[in-house]
Amino acid sequence: MTTEIAEPISPEQRALEDELVATVVASFDHTPDPRLKELMQSLTRHLHAFIRDVRLTEAEWNTAIEFLTAAGHITDARRQEFVLLSDVLGVSMQTIAVNNRAYKGATDATVFGPFFLDDAPEIPLGGDIAGGASGQPCWVEGTVTDTDGKPVAGARIEVWECDEDGFYDVQYGDERVAGRAHLFADDNGRYRFWGLTPVPYPIPHDGPVGTMLEATGRSPVRASHLHFMVAAGGLRTLVTHIFVDGDPQIEIGDSVFGVKDSLITEFAPQVPGTPTPDGRDLGDRSWARARFDIVLAPDGV
Ligand code: BEZ
Ligand code: FE
Repeated sequence: MTTEIAEPISPEQRALEDELVATVVASFDHTPDPRLKELMQSLTRHLHAFIRDVRLTEAEWNTAIEFLTAAGHITDARRQEFVLLSDVLGVSMQTIAVNNRAYKGATDATVFGPFFLDDAPEIPLGGDIAGGASGQPCWVEGTVTDTDGKPVAGARIEVWECDEDGFYDVQYGDERVAGRAHLFADDNGRYRFWGLTPVPYPIPHDGPVGTMLEATGRSPVRASHLHFMVAAGGLRTLVTHIFVDGDPQIEIGDSVFGVKDSLITEFAPQVPGTPTPDGRDLGDRSWARARFDIVLAPDGV
């Protein structure tokens, strides 16, 4: 193997490139909105720095344009390839990190994902979110409190997950609503419901993002998880998941970098015949149980 030594950049060439960056940055000087001005000027500096750092070839520039064009073509009301791209580049998680600062033990946020629906059915406390989705039943319970430990009565809890084959209801292309629901915490901030023990599944990888993952030797698989979105007046809305302790995919790596240690949760396996918390008869089926206590930060911190 021969190692190519990059030609050094001459001072004249460097000056030419510097001048172009300065000219493009200055083109935004009169942007009326100061935030837009900051965003565009910083984006320009970073993009140019990248091009100069890797000495981008014109063929590579073309490939990038083709990639973005393909991402646009595959995107529609159900499929958002640009968000997926942001997810696999860690851009979504970095944005979440910047906007959900750690605050006095508040539960960590993680990536939203493309499979939330805002009209999921309401279930009572102790109800079942499966709606016919296949999988091992799993009892999930916990509390919602603020960072002073005060229960958040009536917090709205949205939960959604894939079935045991790794598909969300919306991926079947029919009208089914399964593996999702919302419920409200009781007066003591407590909640409980039946869900499904999460399994690992791949993010949609039949488009340009999947091609990029393959070309770079990366797996599209996400660590097993159950999504939550928890909202209550005066408190920061939390978008998060719980991950299954012991899932090998956590070590292998989550394709969208969503795992945080604080969100890894024991899903304790229960052998068939173990009495259920609400007396539900599961016959000869095994089940699991998990506890997730949710702490919401104040709004605006
Ligand atoms: C998900 O967890 O559902 C998900 C997150 C990011 C990209 C694709 C799927
Ligand atoms: Fe998911």
